[in-house]
Parts: sequence; structure tokens; C-alpha cells
Amino acid sequence: MQKKSWRINEKEYEYLSAVLESGFPGSASVSFTAKLEKMFAEKFNSKYAISFANGTATLHAALVAAGVGPGAEVIVPPLTMTATTMAVLFTGATPVYADIDPDTFLISPTSIRKCVTSRTKAIMPVALYGLSPDYDEINKIANQYKLTVIEDDAQCFGGKYKGKMVGTLGDIASFSFQNSKHMTCGEGGMVITSNPEHAVSIRRFSSLGYGNVSAEPGKSRINKNELVKPDFARHVSLGYNYRLSELCSAVAYAQLEKLETFIACRKKCAAAYSEVIGNTSWLKAQKNPDNCENSYWAYTVKLVNPEVGWTDFYDKFKEFGGDGFYGAWRLSYNEPFLQNVIPEYQRQCPVAESTQPLLMQFKTNYGSEPEIAEQAEALRKTLDFFGR
Ligand SMILES: Cc1ncc(COP(=O)(O)O)c(C=O)c1O
Repeated sequence: MQKKSWRINEKEYEYLSAVLESGFPGSASVSFTAKLEKMFAEKFNSKYAISFANGTATLHAALVAAGVGPGAEVIVPPLTMTATTMAVLFTGATPVYADIDPDTFLISPTSIRKCVTSRTKAIMPVALYGLSPDYDEINKIANQYKLTVIEDDAQCFGGKYKGKMVGTLGDIASFSFQNSKHMTCGEGGMVITSNPEHAVSIRRFSSLGYGNVSAEPGKSRINKNELVKPDFARHVSLGYNYRLSELCSAVAYAQLEKLETFIACRKKCAAAYSEVIGNTSWLKAQKNPDNCENSYWAYTVKLVNPEVGWTDFYDKFKEFGGDGFYGAWRLSYNEPFLQNVIPEYQRQCPVAESTQPLLMQFKTNYGSEPEIAEQAEALRKTLDFFGR
């Protein structure tokens, strides 16, 4: 008996069944992974798309492809899900924190410039909540100092910057298919790049360093005639097994076919929240620069009313039928595991410090007009309660 939801329906079941019916005869039979990668590359205007088990492994592989390792520094924002920082640490490099813009909540190019040292190897901006950082300015810095730019676009599918797709603005871009994201297969991820050397390195890293993998979809399998021989040398470099399973690829492929619908739902929901907030002076929504299209993984607002506490607002919103919302993650360098590791001088992001506690991340993944209306109405009642 198939149980369906607005995000998961016939196609996911159909493609999953096809994989199960294949009986996993061997890696040569893989097809959804190849189809997914091909379609993803086309949709995101990229030469290569390489699938991964999650959107942290993607960042790890991208950093290694950029030559990041022990002794190097990578500039990252402190306000993001901490996987951005963890991926840098996996390589043995040091994350260096650039402060954020108080209105867009995104990494600030002015602050990035101040963080560059002779050890900086890469910049890893995050398209936070679905909004693109200022890539013209970031790329200027990267070109000047010969740094690789890795986009962490886990939260941004279908965002645009000056008319260009988010994902095509740096050297390498990373996406996540974790369950809260625009498209999902439970856990998964994708790296895109148009640089063939980066692409081969990333594929190899995801695939235990097998020498005969290719960046091209579907050609990344071991040739059986070679493989059976006892003197076959398989591994030319150190790698992880970070591959996306065929089952997850089947679901992700069905999701990718519907991606535009998912993005449209999120935007519709954001528009409904925005209409309710209107000119309320003490709620500042994430500022959307005119040249950017936000894809609204979340609709995020800053609560700037000294008389209304974050928890008071949360409780009232729930009381009025709201689904709840999330506070922003602690700044990465303030997470317990890092507090004593990152030196004090690298923990000076005053704008992020003052902004993070005030943020409210409203969910946008609702699939129907009534659900969106219900959340918007709860927000309206909450604002009326506290007085606009
Ligand atoms: C900005 C950002 N980067 C990286 C990740 C990590 O992705 P995953 O959970 O797929 O490993 C996430 C996911 O939640 C994220 O939001």
C-alpha cells in the first residue's frame, strides 16, 4: 500500500521499485545515479555533477580538490550550520571566520578581505536561507589572492545572483539533499563544477581513490574485465566511500523532476509571511538585494523589540496555531567542541554575535495554500498580540 505526501508520490515509489527489482547485481547496473547527475548538471548549467552521501561529504571533497590541507586557512561565515566548519577541520585546515552583513545575514566581502593571510587557500561562502552572497565582490578577492571559491549552497536550490544560477558563481558548488532541503532523498548531496581537474579529484575522493573512475556520470564504474585480474591496481589516491546509493539516487531523481514546484511553494510561503509582516518596525526580514532571487529554504527575520523576547514570540506563535520556527544555529565557533580550539583572535565577529540570538527561521516547506494560510494567520495574530 503506497502512502503519499505532497513531497513524495508515485514517481519516488516507481523509481525505488525499479532499483529494488534490479536486485543490486553490481555497480555496473547503476542508472539512477547517472541519470540524476546528468539532469542536475544540465539544470544547474554545469559541466559536471557528482553525487554524494550527504552535503558535508561534498564540502570535504571540494576542499580537498582545491588543495586545502594541514596548514591552510579557509574563510567561512560563523553563522551557518556547523557542517561548513567541520568540513574544513576534516582536511586538517583552519577555519577563519569572516563577519556577516547585519541585514542580509550573509558573509561580508569587506570582512573576508580582512581575513586573508598568506595561508588562505579558499573561501567558502554560504547561500544562507536561500540567498546568494555577493559573488562579484567575493570573486574579486579570490582572483586577487588566487583563492578557490567553494559555494556552500546546501540551502539554496534555484536562487539567482544578477540573473545567474547560484551554483555557477564560484569554482565548485555543494548542495545537500537532507530532509529539510528543497529536494530530498533523506540524506544526500551533489557537487557541481565546470573544472575537469576538480571534477576528477572530487569523484575519486568520493570513491575510495579508484583510478579508473571518471567525472562523467555513468562512466565512473570499475571495468570488470580489468577488476578481476589479480594484479589490478585499483587505488591511486586516498579517498572515502562517500557515494550516493542507487536507492537514494532514485528518490533524488524523482525529486529533481519536481524541483521547480518545490521552489515555487517555498517562495509562495515566504511571500505570505512577508505580506503579514509588512512594515512592522521591530521585525526585520532577511534583506533581499534587488539583484538576487531568494529561494527561501527558510524565511528568516530578526526580532528587534526589547520588550518581546524570542521565547515569548515563539510560544505565542505556537499558541495561535503556528508550526514553530527555529532559532539560528549557535555561531560555529561557539559550539562546545570548538570553543577551546579556535583562538580568540579568530572569534571576533561582532555583527554575527549580536544578530544570531535574534533570528527566527520560519519554515517554508508547505505544499498547499491552506497550510501556508494557516502559518501566515498564526503570524498575523502573534504580531497583533504584541502590537505592531
Ligand atoms: C549550510 C549547510 N551546509 C552544509 C550542510 C550539511 O549538509 P548535510 O546535512 O547533507 O550533510 C547543511 C545541512 O543541513 C547546511 O545547511
